[in-house]
Amino acid sequence: MTYTKGNLVTNVKTGPSGRAMAHPMDPSILDALHQHINMERAASAQYFAMSIWCSEREFKGFSNFFNKESQNEQVHATNFANYLIARGQNVALLDLSAPNQDWTNIEDLFSYSFQMEADVTASLNQIYSMAERSSDTRTTVFLDPTIEGQTASEDEFAYLLGKLKLANNDPSALFIIDSELNK
Ligand SMILES: [Fe+2]
Repeated sequence: MTYTKGNLVTNVKTGPSGRAMAHPMDPSILDALHQHINMERAASAQYFAMSIWCSEREFKGFSNFFNKESQNEQVHATNFANYLIARGQNVALLDLSAPNQDWTNIEDLFSYSFQMEADVTASLNQIYSMAERSSDTRTTVFLDPTIEGQTASEDEFAYLLGKLKLANNDPSALFIIDSELNK
């Protein structure tokens, strides 16, 4: 499209969604973003499962913590969906598998969640590199605050995992950490 003064603009490009599209998106980046949305949705379901696991064992603080995390992951998925819509793309929602509900103890559960956060960051890093390679600045700028948020999440999970290692499964120590999370 070229803007011509006084003329009606009729040839604005549209994306797969039918919305106006300023610039097309590399298909491999689009595919990676679809996969990433699913990772965020899977993380939301996984944290919901963890919240339930904690509730069943009287860990109210941990349960609240994971319930909030579950909601945060849904917000992340929404942010990515909104980004694709802003870029004129369709949002394909893929199959989700059932979350894990089986852990031997809360430290085991936290190790699992820390690894999940690290996997989400790895996916973001991969998309970032792809966007850099194809000079997709819109995508790198979109990803910047998300990656910053991931570093903060990893730090928070590492802190709690470190405390749980110190607690060494002692019930009284675990309930102190649990009540701190409830505040
Ligand atoms: Fe997330």
